[in-house]
Amino acid sequence: MTYMNFVVKKDFNFLNGETEIPSDKSLSHRAVIFSTLAKGKSVIKNFSKGIDPHSSLEICKELGADIIENDNQTIIVNSDGILKKPSKYLYCGNSGTTMRLMAGILSGQNFDCVLTGDESLSKRPMKRVIEPLSLMGAKISSQDFHAPLNICGSNLTGITYESKIASAQVKSCVLLAGLFADGITRYKEIYPSRNHTEIMLKNVGANIFKQDGYICIEKSELKPLEINICGDISSCAYFIVAGLIVPNSKIILKNIGLNPTRSGIIGVAKQMGGKIEILDQRDVCGETVGDIKVEYSPDMKGVEFCGEIIPKLIDEIPVISVLATQCKGQTVIKDAQDLRNKESDRIETTVKELSKLGADIEQTPDGMIINGKTKLNGGVEVESYKDHRLAMSLYVAGLVCEKEILIKDFEWVNISFPEFLKLFEKLK
Ligand code: S3P
Repeated sequence: MTYMNFVVKKDFNFLNGETEIPSDKSLSHRAVIFSTLAKGKSVIKNFSKGIDPHSSLEICKELGADIIENDNQTIIVNSDGILKKPSKYLYCGNSGTTMRLMAGILSGQNFDCVLTGDESLSKRPMKRVIEPLSLMGAKISSQDFHAPLNICGSNLTGITYESKIASAQVKSCVLLAGLFADGITRYKEIYPSRNHTEIMLKNVGANIFKQDGYICIEKSELKPLEINICGDISSCAYFIVAGLIVPNSKIILKNIGLNPTRSGIIGVAKQMGGKIEILDQRDVCGETVGDIKVEYSPDMKGVEFCGEIIPKLIDEIPVISVLATQCKGQTVIKDAQDLRNKESDRIETTVKELSKLGADIEQTPDGMIINGKTKLNGGVEVESYKDHRLAMSLYVAGLVCEKEILIKDFEWVNISFPEFLKLFEKLK
């Protein structure tokens, strides 16, 4: 990536019009990985252009899938469903989803391999996957539970596991290992995390079912996948917040994934008093999809949220914090300590950078407290900490700052959303 700082200024009046939002990152990872595990030809329409899903795609190629990528974002995956021993280290880049999902799959193969990642990913905790996988019989060595992960393929056995963290990556890792394990693998989590893995595995014929509050899976042969991936609610979140806080805005965001385990931001923004309407709600491949109408909402109020809703909006918390600065009164976010384990410590980095803009925001061990409504001054340089979601959240804050702001290392938005600036320009 080339080094790029980006200046945001109020050089327009309001956001107006409608746009589609690019493809869902979580679904793109799963689609290419599950197609590789299936025997036959899979067709994935609207695959993400983000760097992270391409890390998964490149690893799938290295594991033997024949993948053809078209310009129009349709990818064709031909696979015999049997993974081959890679000839090099498997590089996951910045992507926790790639590393954690692949760790589950690769633990149960009949070859050894190594998963590596960039500087940020190598600092993120992998104990959460190494622990349950080891209970299943996996042999993984690492330095202090961090990447690189040296995986020695072994025979796995199903376990019954109760996770104390609500993490879709951990859940998916264990369920995918369960596809290669003897017996049944049962998984329960403290709060439900996003369920794309369960929905998509069911669609490709995996023997996955619910029993006594556990998600259960057994060895299964997967069928090829046909999917048209919807727009990413996490990418859409920046437009939702911008539409709510930039005076006189009125936008429609089309074809967005509204899976209830992902769309917590809609409920919170509505509770704050945001004018949001869902149009044309429909079902696509088991996922709820719809259009979102957003209007400028000057009278929003702070709210408190915690517990079960946190995993439903975990990636949106930095931009919800920006929204909270424009709400009257106090917003309190609790139970979000896992934000400290993301691409940056998102509690620390969000609070630090929004404070520089003039926000009244403080961190707590498991969240933050924001007092509004604050006039954001801007006129400063802010850091993205090479964290795509922080960079995009700061951009949205910049749209309501009095003076321009400069965001460092802005190119990191390409991790999930290379079309970000182009789409904002379209609506200005
Ligand atoms: C993801 C799960 C979440 C989320 C990440 C994508 C997924 O991570 O933050 O961006 O696709 O499964 P955790 O499982 O660590 O909560």
